[in-house]
Amino acid sequence: MNNVKTGEVISKRRKELGLTQNQLAGFLNISFQAVSKWENGTAYPDIALLPKLAAALNTTVDALLGYSSVITDYDNRYCTKEYYWGLVPNHICYDIMKILPPIKSYRVLDIGCGEGKDAVFLAKCGYTVTAFDISEAGIEKAKELASQNKVNVNFFKADIFDYRPDTVFDIIFSSGVFHFIPPGERKEFCQSLKEHTADDGINALNVFVKKPFISRAPDSTQTEDKRHPWRSGELFGYYHDWLFHLCSENVFDCNSGGIPHKHCMDTLIAQNYK
Ligand SMILES: C[S@@+](CC[C@H](N)C(=O)[O-])C[C@H]1O[C@@H](n2cnc3c(N)ncnc32)[C@H](O)[C@@H]1O
Repeated sequence: MNNVKTGEVISKRRKELGLTQNQLAGFLNISFQAVSKWENGTAYPDIALLPKLAAALNTTVDALLGYSSVITDYDNRYCTKEYYWGLVPNHICYDIMKILPPIKSYRVLDIGCGEGKDAVFLAKCGYTVTAFDISEAGIEKAKELASQNKVNVNFFKADIFDYRPDTVFDIIFSSGVFHFIPPGERKEFCQSLKEHTADDGINALNVFVKKPFISRAPDSTQTEDKRHPWRSGELFGYYHDWLFHLCSENVFDCNSGGIPHKHCMDTLIAQNYK
């Protein structure tokens, strides 16, 4: 067991859930000093405490031991032959093509690419696409889709909380993913995306927003209680210094999981205008 890594996982998950060290200690009937020692790597949690600790942090013992930092149930959803989100590309892909048509091989990053339908579509159109997702099953299907369509996409498994781009991109795209980012981390996250966008490049993003008239999606399970819908308009604020090509809020019907429900979504396509 990697002591420091386990401490980092505990600290990260605790903060994602908005818990203080004291609160976590309270759940476990231990002192906050014990939590503090785990988090700074000077002590291990007792092995008998791991299942309770994992439950308190809404994660797994494996994740605490550093084998995986986030659990989602998307792996289960993607373990079928069918494509959970279908194969029709997101309409944002067409908006991207209007603003930066693939007259040259623009570099695209698709964050949380799922089973790869958008990444593969953009690659077919002539973009150079890098795409990642936390779900291994999603990435495997995405690779298969790319192969069926005879395109190269740099697909890999990664966690948005760990991944830091090592290059700039012309287009950073993400659909239906950023609600996994806790409110306190969003400004910095968007800033990092902006810093990794080339001059005149674009960020094409959408986020689920909370509205009093939209109830929770029926296919969101307990493991995904850590979904954090954004405040209406919040995304737009982080890009106030870029040029807006598209800035909209829509309520739409969704049938994921086979149960009809509604979502409200803010969509932004903003350009690093120079
Ligand atoms: C609603 S799906 C959207 C998938 C894809 N963008 C699409 O529109 O078809 C959300 C995706 O976010 C991924 N995801 C969730 N948490 C993640 C994380 N921490 N890092 C990377 N991807 C994550 C899930 O595995 C899932 O594929």
